[in-house]
Amino acid sequence: GHDTTASAICWSLYNLARHDHYQEKCRKEVMDLMEGRDVHEINWEDLSSLPFTTMCIRESLRLHSPVQAVTRRYLQDVELPGGHTVPEGAICLVSIYGTHHNPAVWTNPHDFDPLRFDPTNQKGLSSHAFIPFSSGPRNCIGQKFALAECAWSGPDAAQVSSVAGGGTPDSGPPPGKSAASPSLSSALKAACGFRWNL
Ligand code: HEM
Repeated sequence: GHDTTASAICWSLYNLARHDHYQEKCRKEVMDLMEGRDVHEINWEDLSSLPFTTMCIRESLRLHSPVQAVTRRYLQDVELPGGHTVPEGAICLVSIYGTHHNPAVWTNPHDFDPLRFDPTNQKGLSSHAFIPFSSGPRNCIGQKFALAECAWSGPDAAQVSSVAGGGTPDSGPPPGKSAASPSLSSALKAACGFRWNL
């Protein structure tokens, strides 16, 4: 839970730092909500007052899912379209990355577009198009808490003006790596870490 949530927060900030206009919109939403209050006074009830920030977090979870795949063992033979059968006992890998970047499911899947998660744009989308927390009886039990943690980082994040990922401040990214090349370990990380300009 810690690693995945840390990954989600880092990639959310990274994506916002790369898209100033969305970053400004989130900052305004957070500042309006927290006006006259200490940034650490944010609570559960406040989360519903951050709809755009929540859309940005969800879009970041789509684009950079901390967990990229889950596996399941078939408990019985399952027939697939096309006459193929997956036999009992087989282990199947469900690619969260593949689902979230499938152009048949998401238009321009590599673009960061939080408005995809505007409820008015969700019509016709499969209930399994967005599965950062997996799905079914063994899905993530911490997902509401994780989303809250991401949103709670908003007031602090409102100070972030830009971010660069990769290498040490002097060296820049190593050859062949872009600013924040994803690297898969237990959770998705930036290959060379993130560098923040506050
Ligand atoms: C953004 C943050 C998080 C992401 C992306 C995430 C993702 C996932 C995914 C994909 C699974 C399913 C694994 C599978 O099906 O094999 C899972 C399971 C689980 N997660 Fe999370 N998680 C996050 C945060 C958390 C937090 C904060 C907690 C605890 C407070 C947590 C507790 C768990 C537990 C206990 C399971 C196992 C559930 C079971 O097997 O029945 N997760 N998580």
